[in-house]
Amino acid sequence: MLRRFTGRIAATTLVLATGLGAAVAFAADEPANIIKYRQNYMKANGGHIAMIAAMVKGEVSWNDELPGHAHALHEQSNHLLRLFPEGTGKGDTEAESAALPVIWERRSEFEQKAKDFETESAKLVEVAEGGDMAAVAQQLGALGTKGCGGCHETFREKKN
Ligand code: HEC
Repeated sequence: MLRRFTGRIAATTLVLATGLGAAVAFAADEPANIIKYRQNYMKANGGHIAMIAAMVKGEVSWNDELPGHAHALHEQSNHLLRLFPEGTGKGDTEAESAALPVIWERRSEFEQKAKDFETESAKLVEVAEGGDMAAVAQQLGALGTKGCGGCHETFREKKN
């Protein structure tokens, strides 16, 4: 019994060790890794938006989680720009990406869109803490249109 148990621990340790070994075999911040990280970052944004929307629509009643999601979005907005270094766009690597070259051609416009995300998510934090759901719904819409959509419209490849 004990042997089987220790055997299992040894096997788990081995899996963890090899997993870690594989992770350090790749250089940090390689373009393909950045792209993957960035897409997960964007999915996380989408997740927070969808969870807030579920509360706004009354699909779930856990409204006490609302400020947390709003804060998470605002926190995310603060480091969007570093996820878009040159050489990580569509076609720059083997990794699939919807990040269009205009991001680097019209950088200041892109930076302005990141700023809009920051501004609109800060306003969302404010109303989320206030707890007025009508105001939250309105600001969620503004964030979606200005903060997310405003950037996607020009800088992200459209899916057909
Ligand atoms: C400043 C520009 C910008 C802002 C702001 C922005 N995005 Fe994105 N988003 C992009 C770009 C560019 C891509 C494509 C990334 C890639 O494929 O490398 C993307 C991709 C995505 C994806 C697809 C990820 C995948 O699975 O590949 C989702 C979902 C997404 N964004 C959601 C959001 C949400 C929600 C917000 C607002 C809370 C937001 N984004 C704000 C530029 C932006």
